[in-house]
Amino acid sequence: MAIRLGDEAPDFTADTTEGTISFHDYLGDSWGVLFSHPKDFTPVCTTELGAFSAAKAEFDKRNAKLIGLSVDDVESHGKWAGDIEETQGTALNFPLIGDEDRKVADLYDMIHPNANDTLTVRSVFIVGPDKKVKLTLTYPASTGRNVTEVLRVLDSLQLTSDYKVATPVNWTDGQDVIVVPALSDEEATERFPKGFTALKPYLRVTPQPNK
Ligand code: BEZ
Repeated sequence: MAIRLGDEAPDFTADTTEGTISFHDYLGDSWGVLFSHPKDFTPVCTTELGAFSAAKAEFDKRNAKLIGLSVDDVESHGKWAGDIEETQGTALNFPLIGDEDRKVADLYDMIHPNANDTLTVRSVFIVGPDKKVKLTLTYPASTGRNVTEVLRVLDSLQLTSDYKVATPVNWTDGQDVIVVPALSDEEATERFPKGFTALKPYLRVTPQPNK
Protein backbone atom coordinates (compact mmCIF):
# COMPACT_ATOMS: atom_id res chain seq x y z
CA MET A 1 0.00 0.00 0.00
CA ALA A 2 1.16 3.49 -0.73
CA ILE A 3 2.82 5.36 2.09
CA ARG A 4 0.95 8.49 3.06
CA LEU A 5 1.93 11.63 4.91
CA GLY A 6 1.81 11.10 8.65
CA ASP A 7 2.39 7.32 8.39
CA GLU A 8 5.25 5.84 10.33
CA ALA A 9 8.13 5.32 7.89
CA PRO A 10 8.47 1.52 7.61
CA ASP A 11 11.64 0.27 9.25
CA PHE A 12 13.97 -2.15 7.46
CA THR A 13 17.43 -3.61 7.64
CA ALA A 14 19.44 -3.59 4.41
CA ASP A 15 22.94 -3.91 2.99
CA THR A 16 24.34 -0.57 1.92
CA THR A 17 27.61 0.82 0.64
CA GLU A 18 28.33 1.68 4.29
CA GLY A 19 27.50 -1.77 5.71
CA THR A 20 24.28 -3.18 7.10
CA ILE A 21 21.89 -0.44 8.22
CA SER A 22 18.67 -0.53 10.20
CA PHE A 23 16.81 2.48 8.92
CA HIS A 24 15.34 3.81 12.17
CA ASP A 25 18.62 3.30 14.05
CA TYR A 26 20.50 5.03 11.23
CA LEU A 27 18.21 8.04 11.48
CA GLY A 28 18.42 8.28 15.27
CA ASP A 29 17.13 11.76 16.20
CA SER A 30 17.80 13.18 12.75
CA TRP A 31 15.56 13.97 9.85
CA GLY A 32 15.93 11.52 6.97
CA VAL A 33 15.81 11.72 3.19
CA LEU A 34 15.29 8.31 1.58
CA PHE A 35 15.40 8.45 -2.21
CA SER A 36 15.30 5.80 -4.88
CA HIS A 37 17.25 5.44 -8.13
CA PRO A 38 15.96 3.22 -10.92
CA LYS A 39 19.23 1.41 -11.62
CA ASP A 40 23.03 1.56 -11.37
CA PHE A 41 25.12 2.90 -14.24
CA THR A 42 22.33 5.11 -15.56
CA PRO A 43 23.00 8.70 -16.54
CA VAL A 44 20.41 10.74 -14.62
CA CYS A 45 21.02 8.80 -11.40
CA THR A 46 24.75 9.37 -11.74
CA THR A 47 24.22 13.14 -11.84
CA GLU A 48 21.78 13.03 -8.90
CA LEU A 49 24.09 11.06 -6.64
CA GLY A 50 26.94 13.44 -7.43
CA ALA A 51 24.80 16.50 -6.70
CA PHE A 52 23.33 15.15 -3.44
CA SER A 53 26.85 14.18 -2.30
CA ALA A 54 28.12 17.68 -3.14
CA ALA A 55 25.29 19.14 -1.02
CA LYS A 56 25.80 16.84 1.96
CA ALA A 57 27.05 19.67 4.20
CA GLU A 58 23.72 21.46 3.62
CA PHE A 59 21.82 18.36 4.76
CA ASP A 60 24.15 18.02 7.77
CA LYS A 61 23.38 21.65 8.70
CA ARG A 62 19.70 20.72 8.80
CA ASN A 63 20.34 17.60 10.89
CA ALA A 64 19.17 15.46 7.96
CA LYS A 65 20.68 12.14 6.90
CA LEU A 66 20.64 11.02 3.29
CA ILE A 67 20.16 7.41 2.24
CA GLY A 68 19.76 6.33 -1.39
CA LEU A 69 18.51 3.09 -2.92
CA SER A 70 19.06 1.42 -6.25
CA VAL A 71 17.78 -1.98 -7.32
CA ASP A 72 21.24 -3.46 -7.84
CA ASP A 73 23.54 -5.02 -5.28
CA VAL A 74 26.11 -3.29 -3.14
CA GLU A 75 29.02 -4.70 -5.15
CA SER A 76 27.61 -3.03 -8.25
CA HIS A 77 27.05 0.21 -6.30
CA GLY A 78 30.73 0.15 -5.31
CA LYS A 79 31.82 0.00 -8.94
CA TRP A 80 29.32 2.68 -9.94
CA ALA A 81 30.59 4.95 -7.13
CA GLY A 82 33.89 5.19 -9.00
CA ASP A 83 32.08 6.54 -12.06
CA ILE A 84 30.10 9.00 -9.92
CA GLU A 85 33.28 10.45 -8.45
CA GLU A 86 35.04 10.50 -11.82
CA THR A 87 32.25 12.18 -13.77
CA GLN A 88 30.59 14.37 -11.10
CA GLY A 89 33.71 15.39 -9.17
CA THR A 90 32.29 14.33 -5.80
CA ALA A 91 32.55 10.95 -4.14
CA LEU A 92 29.38 9.26 -2.91
CA ASN A 93 29.31 10.21 0.78
CA PHE A 94 26.12 8.63 2.16
CA PRO A 95 24.84 5.06 2.14
CA LEU A 96 23.29 3.57 -0.97
CA ILE A 97 21.05 0.57 -0.29
CA GLY A 98 21.56 -2.59 -2.34
CA ASP A 99 18.02 -3.69 -3.12
CA GLU A 100 18.39 -6.42 -5.71
CA ASP A 101 15.48 -8.35 -4.15
CA ARG A 102 13.30 -5.16 -4.21
CA LYS A 103 12.56 -5.61 -0.52
CA VAL A 104 12.80 -1.93 0.39
CA ALA A 105 11.44 -0.78 -2.98
CA ASP A 106 8.31 -2.88 -2.38
CA LEU A 107 8.00 -1.76 1.23
CA TYR A 108 7.98 1.88 0.06
CA ASP A 109 5.98 1.26 -3.13
CA MET A 110 8.82 2.60 -5.26
CA ILE A 111 8.04 0.39 -8.25
CA HIS A 112 5.12 1.64 -10.30
CA PRO A 113 4.40 -1.19 -12.74
CA ASN A 114 2.63 1.01 -15.28
CA ALA A 115 5.80 3.08 -15.54
CA ASN A 116 8.25 0.16 -15.36
CA ASP A 117 7.76 -3.19 -13.70
CA THR A 118 11.33 -3.76 -12.50
CA LEU A 119 12.94 -0.35 -11.99
CA THR A 120 11.96 2.12 -9.30
CA VAL A 121 10.58 5.55 -10.01
CA ARG A 122 12.43 8.46 -8.40
CA SER A 123 10.80 8.57 -4.98
CA VAL A 124 11.74 10.92 -2.16
CA PHE A 125 10.56 10.34 1.40
CA ILE A 126 11.39 12.92 4.03
CA VAL A 127 11.06 11.45 7.51
CA GLY A 128 10.93 13.50 10.71
CA PRO A 129 12.78 12.74 13.95
CA ASP A 130 9.50 11.14 15.12
CA LYS A 131 9.90 8.65 12.19
CA LYS A 132 6.73 9.94 10.57
CA VAL A 133 6.65 10.60 6.83
CA LYS A 134 6.53 14.37 6.28
CA LEU A 135 6.82 14.53 2.50
CA THR A 136 6.67 12.26 -0.52
CA LEU A 137 7.71 13.16 -4.06
CA THR A 138 7.57 10.97 -7.15
CA TYR A 139 9.39 11.73 -10.38
CA PRO A 140 9.68 9.58 -13.48
CA ALA A 141 13.03 7.99 -14.30
CA SER A 142 13.60 10.54 -17.06
CA THR A 143 13.52 13.59 -14.76
CA GLY A 144 16.34 14.25 -12.32
CA ARG A 145 15.36 15.71 -8.98
CA ASN A 146 16.29 19.18 -7.75
CA VAL A 147 18.55 19.23 -4.69
CA THR A 148 17.66 22.85 -3.95
CA GLU A 149 13.99 21.93 -3.83
CA VAL A 150 14.61 19.06 -1.40
CA LEU A 151 16.56 21.45 0.87
CA ARG A 152 13.83 24.09 0.54
CA VAL A 153 11.17 21.59 1.59
CA LEU A 154 13.28 20.50 4.54
CA ASP A 155 13.55 24.14 5.63
CA SER A 156 9.79 24.53 5.35
CA LEU A 157 9.05 21.29 7.23
CA GLN A 158 11.46 22.23 10.01
CA LEU A 159 9.94 25.71 10.36
CA THR A 160 6.46 24.21 10.60
CA SER A 161 7.67 21.75 13.19
CA ASP A 162 9.49 24.37 15.29
CA TYR A 163 7.28 27.46 14.94
CA LYS A 164 3.79 26.47 13.71
CA VAL A 165 4.11 28.47 10.50
CA ALA A 166 3.41 27.50 6.91
CA THR A 167 5.34 28.67 3.86
CA PRO A 168 3.73 30.30 0.83
CA VAL A 169 4.20 29.65 -2.87
CA ASN A 170 7.82 29.76 -4.05
CA TRP A 171 8.99 30.55 -0.52
CA THR A 172 12.70 30.36 0.13
CA ASP A 173 14.66 30.62 3.35
CA GLY A 174 14.54 34.16 4.79
CA GLN A 175 11.23 35.23 3.28
CA ASP A 176 8.04 35.95 5.20
CA VAL A 177 5.97 32.97 6.30
CA ILE A 178 2.31 32.35 6.99
CA VAL A 179 0.68 32.13 10.41
CA VAL A 180 -1.27 28.87 10.42
CA PRO A 181 -5.05 29.32 10.57
CA ALA A 182 -5.23 27.19 13.74
CA LEU A 183 -3.66 30.06 15.74
CA SER A 184 -5.91 32.88 16.90
CA ASP A 185 -4.71 36.48 16.50
CA GLU A 186 -4.03 36.57 20.24
CA GLU A 187 -1.91 33.41 20.08
CA ALA A 188 -0.10 34.73 17.01
CA THR A 189 0.73 38.01 18.80
CA GLU A 190 2.19 36.03 21.67
CA ARG A 191 4.06 33.59 19.49
CA PHE A 192 5.49 36.04 16.94
CA PRO A 193 7.06 39.04 18.72
CA LYS A 194 7.94 40.66 15.37
CA GLY A 195 4.19 40.96 14.73
CA PHE A 196 2.13 39.87 11.77
CA THR A 197 0.21 41.49 8.94
CA ALA A 198 -3.31 40.30 8.21
CA LEU A 199 -3.99 40.72 4.48
CA LYS A 200 -7.22 38.84 5.15
CA PRO A 201 -8.31 37.27 8.44
CA TYR A 202 -7.16 33.92 7.03
CA LEU A 203 -3.98 35.24 5.34
CA ARG A 204 -1.55 36.49 7.95
CA VAL A 205 2.16 36.87 7.25
CA THR A 206 5.06 37.26 9.67
CA PRO A 207 8.82 37.52 9.27
CA GLN A 208 10.54 34.14 9.37
CA PRO A 209 10.78 33.53 13.14
CA ASN A 210 14.29 32.05 13.25
CA LYS A 211 15.98 34.90 11.34
C1 BEZ B 1 18.75 7.40 -15.70
O1 BEZ B 1 19.07 7.45 -14.52
O2 BEZ B 1 19.32 8.07 -16.55
C2 BEZ B 1 17.61 6.56 -16.15
C3 BEZ B 1 17.31 5.40 -15.47
C4 BEZ B 1 16.27 4.61 -15.92
C5 BEZ B 1 15.54 5.00 -17.03
C6 BEZ B 1 15.84 6.18 -17.69
C7 BEZ B 1 16.88 6.97 -17.25
